[in-house]
Amino acid sequence: MAIRKLLRMGNPILLKKAEKVEKFDTPEIHELIKDMIETMKDAEGAGLAAPQVGESIQLVIFGVDKNERYPEAEEVPFTVLINPVITPLTQDKEDDWEGCLSVPGMRGVVPRYKQINYKGFDQYGNEIDRDAVGFHARVVQHECDHLLGILYPTRIENMKLFGYHDEIFVE
Ligand code: NI
Repeated sequence: MAIRKLLRMGNPILLKKAEKVEKFDTPEIHELIKDMIETMKDAEGAGLAAPQVGESIQLVIFGVDKNERYPEAEEVPFTVLINPVITPLTQDKEDDWEGCLSVPGMRGVVPRYKQINYKGFDQYGNEIDRDAVGFHARVVQHECDHLLGILYPTRIENMKLFGYHDEIFVE
């Protein structure tokens, strides 16, 4: 296991559309997931997409229980999600603050669908099919955006609500 280097905004890999995963349950995929879990925990993130560690494939991990960065957020089940497809269950969106390990130190307000369905596969090729609301739905939309080469700052509608965490959330 190893903590991987996190790519930051500006790196062209973060702007690429990620390739579909064709083979499940391989030593390579298990190794990558182990590294991603360690990297996400080390950085206290709510989620991590494979392109953020330099692997341009459709694989994300996410999960939140008592995360220091999101102290009031609901729990999000720990999930490995491969080749995801998101379907909004309502056209309603809500605004909330987001951060990203590839945009360190910054926060921005991003509109996201309130309710979604997401489908995909776990690392063994088992199907995942879930509905999610609120913070859970937000995390999934943020992580899956990485697979399309989209970073959250490009989804901010009011650039006055974008800045350094320590300047916005003054103690
Ligand atoms: Ni991110």
